[in-house]
Amino acid sequence: MDTRAFYRRQDVGTPRGGGAHRSPRTALVPRFLRCRAAVLPSMLTFLVIVASGGLLLMIEKGMLNSMETSLPRRSAARPEHGPAGRRRPVAADMDTQILQELRNRTIHTMCSQKDLVDNIWSLSDLQRKIVLQHVLVNDEHRFLYCYVPKVACSNWKRLMKMLSGALKFNDFRSKLDHHHDLVFLSSLKPDEIRYRLKHYFKFMFVRDPMERLLSAYRNKFGEIESYQKSYGVKIIKRYRKVDSAKGDDVTFTEFIKYLVDENEERMNEHWMPIYTLCQPCAVTYDFIGSYEHLERDSEYVLQHIGAPSHIRFPERQTWYKPVTKEILHYYLCTVPQKLLKELFLKYILDFSLFAYALPNTTTEDCRH
Ligand SMILES: *[C@@H]1O[C@H](CO)[C@@H](O)[C@H](O)[C@H]1NC(C)=O
Ligand SMILES: *[C@@H]1O[C@H](CO)[C@@H](O)[C@H](O)[C@H]1NC(C)=O
Repeated sequence: MDTRAFYRRQDVGTPRGGGAHRSPRTALVPRFLRCRAAVLPSMLTFLVIVASGGLLLMIEKGMLNSMETSLPRRSAARPEHGPAGRRRPVAADMDTQILQELRNRTIHTMCSQKDLVDNIWSLSDLQRKIVLQHVLVNDEHRFLYCYVPKVACSNWKRLMKMLSGALKFNDFRSKLDHHHDLVFLSSLKPDEIRYRLKHYFKFMFVRDPMERLLSAYRNKFGEIESYQKSYGVKIIKRYRKVDSAKGDDVTFTEFIKYLVDENEERMNEHWMPIYTLCQPCAVTYDFIGSYEHLERDSEYVLQHIGAPSHIRFPERQTWYKPVTKEILHYYLCTVPQKLLKELFLKYILDFSLFAYALPNTTTEDCRH
């Protein structure tokens, strides 16, 4: 099956107004969302779900395997500048190439919807401020990196400091100052921003949206006292209707309720949707790596920007607590279904643009 054919059909099946419920693609919308069209905030959201449903179905049915031959083979990871041949080339396997291609095309298709702004100057002031504050600049190697908290951003910030000489090579143990010695796009003048957006290599890293939220929850509410005292207290007072609280025992469901009630542009960056942080329609990223292939994708970027070969992405720390599929499933199943639906809708662009499957959380699935 040819991906192009898939997307062409996608376009045809995409109702431009009114006919959503008759779309043949409706069959691909996850069952629990299909009967709830009334709750969808806009047609756009509906289209996004339709498209991601299509992707998911293809992934689940293994249709991707048969597409290999029709995909253009990418010359995997050849450094364009810098010391050619010194870094070992990274081989992207076929699945990764296909995922990259799907993400690329989905973003392309989705971002051409007229509701989604295609350049940063047309964003609202607040939206533009958020993205400019999350894009880091390296002029020597001519690249921009949009950092997403809970997606290995500390390690990438360390790498950026190493590249600019502010941090000793491979000193990954030192405590990271998240602002010092880093250049944010927001600190530059409009002309300088325009130039860099146009000419630099731009990349970001994404992660399964629910894994990212669970990771933020376990880290901030489980370990960080300042978060318990600020967000924790606020959440418990709001949802338990009490006057005072210590804030150290926020449940996952309370956290999810809070997320559903918050405006995504006013959220803390650790749980703000990736879409809002990096605006992948307004900034056309050249490469979107994923947490699931962190080391390899990072190596690809380092190679592409011509980083010296002794700068390497660090191995995972020994204290690192992974969020496994089983743990995520366990936590999600503690949350009422209705609330989960609202949560998925809130993060629907992160699921669909970056081709992540909606988790299985029907009563049936949760029995296991
Ligand atoms: C998408 O594909 C185009 C054309 O092959 C390429 O130039 C671009 O870098 C890709 N973008 C991403 C995010 O992979
Ligand atoms: C979700 O559940 C369905 C039916 O139980 C199953 O076929 C599918 O593979 C599951 N998907 C994921 C992503 O776990």
